[in-house]
Amino acid sequence: MTTTSKSEKHAEARKAIDHLHSESRSADQLMKGITELLNQEMLKYNWVGFYMLEHGANPPVLVLGHYQGAMTPHTRIPLNQGICGAAASSGKTVVVDDVSKDMRYLACSLETKSEIVVPIYVHGKVAGELDIDSHFPAAFAPEDRELVEYCAELVGKRLNREPHATA
Ligand code: SME
Repeated sequence: MTTTSKSEKHAEARKAIDHLHSESRSADQLMKGITELLNQEMLKYNWVGFYMLEHGANPPVLVLGHYQGAMTPHTRIPLNQGICGAAASSGKTVVVDDVSKDMRYLACSLETKSEIVVPIYVHGKVAGELDIDSHFPAAFAPEDRELVEYCAELVGKRLNREPHATA
């Protein structure tokens, strides 16, 4: 049996993401592929999904897109709610090591212990985000953050090239 170190696993995932990016014919296909790949390949990424800002909505609202994992009651999230709202309104990555201690947290599954949310930028503005929940506490180390931010950046770049890509 061979063992794979944490950093090797991240490097492998990044290569697989690059391959997926080159094979994807649309941002939609890329986003679907990213949810599948991260959920299957990364042991602690138990729920992986995209929330995108609804076009023209006022007040703005995040709408659930492609996801892998348990069904969530949170299919529409206003920007003043949840970790998701915090990441979208600040435009910054949010990492929560223990969701039970974060008052902003909107529960998706009782099993979730930690979460990362990374904004996606299109034409310089937040257009959505990549959200990952883990059943493990403090699952998102700096190398996870790098990997998830890389995925969000690729999606943003692809959306930049598509019409109607901004909210
Ligand atoms: N936990 C998120 C809500 C989305 S579910 O995790 C899928 C939040 O606090 O915004």
